[in-house]
Amino acid sequence: MCGIVGILGQGPVAGQIVDSLKRLEYRGYDSAGVATLEGGLLTRRRAQGKLKNLAARLAEEPLAGSIGIGHTRWATHGKPTEVNAHPHASDGVAVVHNGIIENFRELRAELIARGVAFTTETDTEVVAHLVGEQLQYGKTPKEAVAAMLPRLRGAFALAFLFEGEEDLLIGARQGAPLAVGYGEGEMYLGSDALALAPFTNLITYLEDGDWVALTRESAEFYDAQNRLANRARVRTEASAFLVDRGNHRHFMSKEIHEQPEVVGRTIAHYLDMSAGRVSLPFELPVDPAALDRVTIVACGTAYLAGLCAKYWIERFARLPVEIDVASEFRYRETPMRPNGLTIVISQSGETADTLASMRYAKGEGQKTLAVVNVTTSTIARECDVVAPTLAGPEIGVASTKAFTCQLAALAAVAIALGRARGALTAEVEARLVSELIAIPGLMAEAIKGEAAVAQIAHQLSRSSDVLYLGRGVSYPMALEGALKLKEISYIHAEGYPAGELKHGPIALIDEKMPVIVLSPSDQWLEKTVSNVQEVAARGGRIILIGDARAAAEADVHLEKFIQMPDMAADFAPLVYAVPIQMLAYHTAVAMGKDVDQPRNLAKSVTVE
Ligand code: G6P
Repeated sequence: MCGIVGILGQGPVAGQIVDSLKRLEYRGYDSAGVATLEGGLLTRRRAQGKLKNLAARLAEEPLAGSIGIGHTRWATHGKPTEVNAHPHASDGVAVVHNGIIENFRELRAELIARGVAFTTETDTEVVAHLVGEQLQYGKTPKEAVAAMLPRLRGAFALAFLFEGEEDLLIGARQGAPLAVGYGEGEMYLGSDALALAPFTNLITYLEDGDWVALTRESAEFYDAQNRLANRARVRTEASAFLVDRGNHRHFMSKEIHEQPEVVGRTIAHYLDMSAGRVSLPFELPVDPAALDRVTIVACGTAYLAGLCAKYWIERFARLPVEIDVASEFRYRETPMRPNGLTIVISQSGETADTLASMRYAKGEGQKTLAVVNVTTSTIARECDVVAPTLAGPEIGVASTKAFTCQLAALAAVAIALGRARGALTAEVEARLVSELIAIPGLMAEAIKGEAAVAQIAHQLSRSSDVLYLGRGVSYPMALEGALKLKEISYIHAEGYPAGELKHGPIALIDEKMPVIVLSPSDQWLEKTVSNVQEVAARGGRIILIGDARAAAEADVHLEKFIQMPDMAADFAPLVYAVPIQMLAYHTAVAMGKDVDQPRNLAKSVTVE
């Protein structure tokens, strides 16, 4: 995950910038750079590899200047070379960037048509040129950024430095975090509070869609409509703890909000973004064309990520998937063929049943691929191939960002299997990849609905039972919705395939029980809508999570409607996870429960 630092200082800042970038090293990166103003002119130093390489460059060719921006880059578009390292510069502006500019190919083509020459393979360079153009048209830096931001789609954070502007830094945030730090006659920007901890513990977090103009004495915040906005200053404990809650009440809330960024990072790790195709960061341990099935084993929320993957692998790769919870699988004595593929999924990489299942599969001669978040874990060490999720440390016991990162990695693996087996054409792969690239931006969009979801959660907190329904790949999401809710609010909740309604749960429906229906506009929409009507006919209380089309087609009284962005439905679980998590979170908060440490549950279950 990239890191951003900006400093408006009193003395030379390049060294300070490198020092605070060091505090972001834990996020992972493969190149780094700094830009400052020397006599009003932009100067840069960049280096491939670790920060010590950048520090060595700076020792050879020091950078003066009391204003600057710096960056650690985790390569997404283009290799981790010095040329692709940030900051990127164009006419009179330098920029550093975290996240993904989803529409960069369109923007790049548009700029090339206007005669702009590109020097890097990055998506970031389009931002530098778009702002540079505006400056050329005579706009001020603030006007230039305000004019450019609406052109960008995706989830990202940006920091800008302008030639001749010794007292101005601009930052912008859409779906990836950015914070302002306040010093004595100094001002700072950082992609997390940890970067700023040596300088200050007085922080303002930008809200989504905000941008900020900083001088040494002031911070002017603007919202997405360019209206001046008031944003609170908070004291952070970042210096005391490696993992900080930011301005969130609970880790779970922070982790829900981090998803556009970490899912973007995970997706980028599995794609060649510029070529628009999947590029797995490892060799598959089997020949996909020779497989007759895939086995998936996991526990809890990780198991439900696996259930989503079953739909994707069967559809994209035309490969049957057998899936089970690890505590059952390990004792079933299921026969397995040598050289088949077993996928285990685990955030911690230490879950006892998952580990034992993996060992069983290995004993049967299977090749094992482990989707793990902790790459130093036992499962990561013992499997044949590690498929990392780049969610960062997950503290809340109820898994959120690790789950959506698991979905992202599994979606890429499913596409890769499809291609290797000749089940997906290059054209379909390109479509699926562009759908994946759009996911972080759609997640950020879904997060914006939080206030409305919180209100619904308030009502939900008075229920004693809740039923979640979904079809197709929304069925595992119905299970996940129910699991999340019961884990942290202790309300009894069940998830059901919508088509099974008539075979049991319909008997429970009355005017008291909320029925939450997940209904993206997918191939199952019509059928899900009939189930909604069955619930309505029995006076059920329907909460629909779907897009405008789903609500229109349902054509019944909806007690509540959580409107989701319009999207291609293939990877809907990644986006629909957001309201599901927020519903559980706000219900538990309304009930005064211990959200991050729910009773009886553990983050990592290392016993049977
Ligand atoms: C526990 C946690 C869940 C998690 C499950 C599997 O039950 O509370 O959030 O999904 O374990 O954990 P793993 O680390 O293997 O993903």
